[in-house]
Amino acid sequence: MPETAAVRDLAVHLARSAGAIQRDRYETRIQVRTKTASIDLVTEVDHACEALIVETLSAERPGDAILAEEGGGEDSQGATWRWVVDPLDGTMNYAHGYPRFCVSIGVERGGRPEVGVVYDPLLDELFCATRGGGATLNGKAIRVSQEQEIGRALLATGFAYDVHRSPDDNVDHFARFVKRARGLRRDGSAALDLCYVAAGRLDGYWELKLHAWDVAAGNLIVEEAGGRTSDFQGRPASGDGRQTVASNGHLHEAMIEVLQR
Ligand code: IPD
Ligand code: CA
Ligand code: CA
Repeated sequence: MPETAAVRDLAVHLARSAGAIQRDRYETRIQVRTKTASIDLVTEVDHACEALIVETLSAERPGDAILAEEGGGEDSQGATWRWVVDPLDGTMNYAHGYPRFCVSIGVERGGRPEVGVVYDPLLDELFCATRGGGATLNGKAIRVSQEQEIGRALLATGFAYDVHRSPDDNVDHFARFVKRARGLRRDGSAALDLCYVAAGRLDGYWELKLHAWDVAAGNLIVEEAGGRTSDFQGRPASGDGRQTVASNGHLHEAMIEVLQR
């Protein structure tokens, strides 16, 4: 089996296994703590999912680098393969029993995105892409929407955990888009928002101050579904997530124009 396919299969296995933990413990009593702000939560399920993923990777692929949100991985320099893991994307939703969260696993080869897997355990939806191989949802090919008019577009965004104290808070962009788009959603999982752009459920998405683990899988899934990802100036997405715009391609320039005003 080519190595990319083996990496993809392992990423799928890990996403499904961590997703099973999330499903089992959903709406049970779990420990919740805060991180960088009173609204930045982490639960014992985030840690359990990360431990499962990191321990399995360390055993199966000891030479690979791992960047995992909760700090459990070894992001070793010089490795060919690098796993970028958000063990539970949508922690606030999870802690409140709001049914929208997922596992996100992106894998880079030589610094380029090669594999992306996002798994929503409640809907049992698995989004997957390999570079040059297209994007799928539960094994069926997906494509971005064809919408060309921002006035007919359904868009999504999110807000960073410093929103209470930072003036760079995305509220200005939100105010402009809410006057232009058909609809706007803030649903609390960046990785699923990106996958929904890929599947044509959303026409576009933007967010500030995300991290590599939020976008590593989703950006590749959008691009492999025929969409476009960039920063707020329209330059190709760097992978750090600090400025993220994803669209069906047709709406991209119009979204950049709104973000630059
Ligand atoms: C968060 C979610 C949310 C986004 C935040 C992210 P987390 O990730 O993706 O939708 O608005 O910016 O930090 O903390 O639940 O993994
Ligand atoms: Ca996240
Ligand atoms: Ca997370």
